[in-house]
Amino acid sequence: MPTKAPVKLKKSLQKLRGMKDILPEDQKYWIYIRNKVEEIANVYSYGRIDMPILEDTSLFVRSVGKETDIVEKEMYTFEDRGGDSISLRPEGTAGVVRAYIEHGMLNRPQPVKLFYYGPFFRYDRPQAGRYRQFHQFGFEVIGENHPVVDAQLMMMSFNLYKELGLPVSLQVNSIGSVESREVYRKALLDYYRSRKNSLCEDCKKRMTKNTLRLLDCKEEDCKLLSQDAPQIIDYLDEDSNQHFVKVLEHLDSMEVPYVLNSRLVRGLDYYSGTVFEIWPDNTVEIEKTEEKNELVKTEEKKDDKKEEENIESDHEDKKAKPGSQSALGGGGRYNQLVEALGGQETPAMGFACGVERLVIELKNRDIKVPGEQKPDLFVAQLGDEARKKSLKLFEDLRLLGFKIAENFSKDGLKNQMEQANKKYAKYTIIIGQKEILDGTILIRDMENGIQETVDFDKIIPELQKRLEKYGVKEKNEKKEKKL
Ligand code: HAM
Repeated sequence: MPTKAPVKLKKSLQKLRGMKDILPEDQKYWIYIRNKVEEIANVYSYGRIDMPILEDTSLFVRSVGKETDIVEKEMYTFEDRGGDSISLRPEGTAGVVRAYIEHGMLNRPQPVKLFYYGPFFRYDRPQAGRYRQFHQFGFEVIGENHPVVDAQLMMMSFNLYKELGLPVSLQVNSIGSVESREVYRKALLDYYRSRKNSLCEDCKKRMTKNTLRLLDCKEEDCKLLSQDAPQIIDYLDEDSNQHFVKVLEHLDSMEVPYVLNSRLVRGLDYYSGTVFEIWPDNTVEIEKTEEKNELVKTEEKKDDKKEEENIESDHEDKKAKPGSQSALGGGGRYNQLVEALGGQETPAMGFACGVERLVIELKNRDIKVPGEQKPDLFVAQLGDEARKKSLKLFEDLRLLGFKIAENFSKDGLKNQMEQANKKYAKYTIIIGQKEILDGTILIRDMENGIQETVDFDKIIPELQKRLEKYGVKEKNEKKEKKL
C-alpha cells in the first residue's frame, strides 16, 4: 500500500515548539533506559518518588536561585485560578527536598535514598538535545555527608551509562563552602575586571550576576581567558578540601576513571562542595536524526525569529554543537538546601540525567536495544462465523500466555498474511468457512510455509508442541496450572 504523506497542520494546531511526541518506534529506547534506571535504583535501594509537576513558584526561586537562568528566563510560570503563582517544575531536586521535609522523612533511617523519573519543563531555546519539555531521571541521597556517598553516587551514575552501552567521561570538581566560594568569586572578579572587553556579552552580564559561570562559557575567547583564571580548588576551605580528597580516594579505589575539571561549576545555586557532570566520551556530531531535522525545520521558521532573539540562554547552550561537550547528566552536593527550604540542617547529594539526550546518544552510536517482542501467533479469519470463533480463541490463547497478533476487522486472507509476515509471527492460525464446518483449524509455519489441518479441540497442545523450540511451552504450562 502506498504510504500517505503526513498532513501539514495549521501552526496553531501543531505541537508546541520545543516539545515532542515519542512515537511507538522510539519507545524501545525509552523502555531500555527506564528498565536500566529501575534496575539500578533497586540494587542501590532507592525508593521511587513521584512529585507533582506543578509546584509553588517560590520553591524553585528559593532552591534553584533567583538569578539563575532557569528561574530568570526558563520557567513556565503562571497564576492559577486562585491567584497563586505556580510553575511547571524545571528540575526535580527542589520537589524531592520539599517532599522530604513535608513528610517528615528526617525521622526515617538516614540517608533517605529517592529516585524519580518524569517530565520537566524549561522555556529554553530549542535545539538538538534541548527541549522545552524533556524527561529526567534523578537520584537523591538525603541525610548523609560522608564522602563515600558522593563517590558511590558518581560511580553508580557512571556505570549506568556504561551498562547502557555509552562511553562517557566523569567530570569532577568541588566548589567548596558558601564562604570559600565568596572568597573565590572575588578573586575571579579581580581577574576578569581587567579583561572585561574580551568577554562575550553574556559573560559581561555574568560578571555581576553569576560570576562562577564565566568559567563554563563555550565562546572561544571566553574559553581562552578562563584557562588562566584562578582555580576554585586553590580556594577551598579545609573541610571542603578534606572532603573532596576523600571522595577522589574512593573513586580511585573503585577504579572509576574521572577528569578533574576546575571549570565545572554547574548552573544551579543550591550546590556546595562536590559537583560532577557526565559527558559523552567523544563529542559526536548529532547526525541527521529525526530530532535534528525537526528542529532545523523549526529553527528556520521566520516567525520564530523574534522569539529567538528574546531567548538568550547559556544554560545547556551550544552544548549539542559539534565539537562541544553536551552534558548527559549532572549533580552534586547541596548541603544547605533542606535548611533553606525550612527543614533542619541536613546534608544531601544528588544527580539527574536527561533522557532525550540518552536516546540521541544511543541512536547516534547505533546501539542495538531490545525491540518489540515478536508474536508467537497471528490469528487470521475468513467470514463472520470464523471471526466470532477467532475472537474467542484469541482471548483463550492470550490467557494461556501466548503472544498473539490479529487484525479482525480485515476480511481478505492475503492482507492478513501480509500483516502476519510483517510482524514476524512464528505461526499463523487460520479459520475459514470450511474449518468452521469441519471443526478444524489450519496452522501455517511462517518460516517454511507448510500448512497443516488440526482438530480445533487439539489446537492448544498442537501449538505448544510447535512452539516448544522457541521456549514458549514452559511459559504456557505455568499459566495453564493457574487457570
Ligand atoms: P541540570 O544540569 O540542570 O541539573 O539537568 C540535568 C540534565 O537534564 C542535563 O545534564 C541534561 O541532560 C538534562 N536537561 C536539562 N535541560 C534540558 C533540556 N532543556 N532539554 C533536554 N535535556 C535537558 C538538574 O536538573 C539538577 N536537579 C540535578 C541534580 C539532582 N543535582 C542534584 N540532584
